[in-house]
Amino acid sequence: MADTAQTTNQTDRTDLPQRSAVRSLLRLWPFIRPVRARLGVAACVAVLASCISLVIPLVLKWLVDGPVAARDPGGAWLGGAFLLLLGLAEALLFGLRRWLVARPLAGVEATMRETLYRHLQRLPVAFHDRWPSGQLLSRGTTDLQLLRMFFAFPLMFLLVNGVTILVGAVILLVQRWSLGLVLLAPVLPLMVLCSVFEAKYGRAARRAQDQVGDLTTVVEESVLGIRIIKGFGRHRSQARAFRELTRALRSTELGKARLLAWIWGCMTALPELAIGGALVCGAVQVADGELSAGTLVAFLSTALALRWPVDSIGFLLAMSNEAAAATDRYFEVMDEPAVEESGPPTPAVRIPPRTAGAPTATAGAGAGAATDQGLVFSGVAFRYPDAPPDSPPLLRDITLHIRPGETMALVGATGSGKTTLTALVPRLYDPTAGRISLDGRDLATISRDEARAMVAVAFEEPTLFSATAAENVLMGGAASRPGGADAQDDELRRALAVAQADGFVAALPEGSATQVGEQGLSLSGGQRQRLALARAVVGRPRFLILDDPLSALDVHTEALVEAALRQVLSTTTALVVAHRPSTVLLADRVALLSGGRIAAVGTHHELLRDNPEYAALMSGEGEGAR
Ligand SMILES: Nc1ncnc2c1ncn2[C@@H]1O[C@H](COP(=O)(O)OP(=O)(O)O)[C@@H](O)[C@H]1O
Ligand SMILES: [Mg+2]
Repeated sequence: MADTAQTTNQTDRTDLPQRSAVRSLLRLWPFIRPVRARLGVAACVAVLASCISLVIPLVLKWLVDGPVAARDPGGAWLGGAFLLLLGLAEALLFGLRRWLVARPLAGVEATMRETLYRHLQRLPVAFHDRWPSGQLLSRGTTDLQLLRMFFAFPLMFLLVNGVTILVGAVILLVQRWSLGLVLLAPVLPLMVLCSVFEAKYGRAARRAQDQVGDLTTVVEESVLGIRIIKGFGRHRSQARAFRELTRALRSTELGKARLLAWIWGCMTALPELAIGGALVCGAVQVADGELSAGTLVAFLSTALALRWPVDSIGFLLAMSNEAAAATDRYFEVMDEPAVEESGPPTPAVRIPPRTAGAPTATAGAGAGAATDQGLVFSGVAFRYPDAPPDSPPLLRDITLHIRPGETMALVGATGSGKTTLTALVPRLYDPTAGRISLDGRDLATISRDEARAMVAVAFEEPTLFSATAAENVLMGGAASRPGGADAQDDELRRALAVAQADGFVAALPEGSATQVGEQGLSLSGGQRQRLALARAVVGRPRFLILDDPLSALDVHTEALVEAALRQVLSTTTALVVAHRPSTVLLADRVALLSGGRIAAVGTHHELLRDNPEYAALMSGEGEGAR
């Protein structure tokens, strides 16, 4: 846990060749499309407002050269009133723009977040094994905020300011082209500076966002692991690791600030110099009588009106680059291929789990062949996608037949791959070779959705969600099951009774409607395990997979749960990972997993007598840390 360096991993992609920011940002178009009309109108409104600000200097020119020169107070009042009107119109239009974009952009952000979340749910377990959760969290939160800001400001203002600068330049050149050229002199060097800045800033922005992701991972781990950190007195080392990450982030952010200060300085100083130069030249020309004072005033006010559009470009480019980095990070996740949950051949009619005995062999293969019924592994091999390429597969040749209605215990040393084997049945992973079949149907041809409706699991680590106890249990099957609230209540009661959870659930402050909190941390380990067990049995699954379901129970509760489990197991085909003889005794037969294959199958007593490895495991010699 203290080793936080591992979180700076392959998701830190700053070394990848930089893609152009524009190309990254163009990928956002599908999300913008639905609101394009509103954004377009808003952009037009903004351009209009901006152009009004350019009309003001022309009115000034008319005022100075007309009424002011002629000492005509009536004309001056008229000019003043007109200027006031223009100012008001500009303010109103800017307000209108904000109103136009606020709601649609919040919608875009929400859609993008929803899309990401839906995709995360559909990504294979192997993806989640590989990616730190903080990286995913930060992509779904801070990166999307950056994108909404981008739509609201840089996207619009790069366009608006560009148009304003063009129109302004034309006005300047028309009024006095020689002075106009003096003002436009810095344009070329500024463009070069901007492109240099953009490349550097884009890389820095990407690094900063990746570091935020790493930081989020550490925070998340520390919050979830707070008991371990405190228990082992590791808060200091944890704090140190955190400080290192924040320092790294801080120095990246300072680097960004330096870059921004530098470009902002150039963007302000160069035009300012040009304005100074134009002022001197213009004053000389007015003195020589070549130029009217009104034209010089108008010229300089136009130049000043263009200052903000020019100054802001550095800052808008910075935000655009941050948005481009955020877009890349977003699509790195979105581009990962999802597994098709309801994918390959799904029969039109879902087979209800209870009619197990009925003609189920719709897949055709071996219909009626009793040897195919039940849960069959034939020549199954599996290796984790991220295992070293030269290592042997974890599961090499698993061949095992669990007959319909039978309960098979799975015994093996720690790390032998028992949990991995159980994960293959609900298709959390797919075998690299071989075949698994459920009642004669090849698992690979059953959609994941359907496979999971047929198979229920309770894992070693009983994960609960921030929801009520009842919701946590009912998620095990209620969704796929018709029936009203009453039917659900009955199911819930039955499942809780089977898992011997009814007693303690009833004693909770609000019974089964009590919130059990994040990870169910308000419950004891045994209580969590019993809720997870209730979740597994609530859907009356045809196949039940239990990964050491009784490990956290005290002896008394264990005996109670065993008695109840015996009933459940008699109605399903089950595979139960077991460590203790008492759990093994629930099973009809036992399979010993060793060296990536099923080394022996038999009753507990047969194996105890004939298989020294099994005898050693059961006597407790093989029981290390689980
Ligand atoms: N998600 C994973 N990615 C890569 N390797 C894994 C993963 N999960 C487990 N392993 C490795 O597979 C081996 C077997 O793990 P597991 O199936 O949990 O064993 P068991 O449940 O029998 O104790 C272990 O050596 C473990 O390091
Ligand atoms: Mg295990």
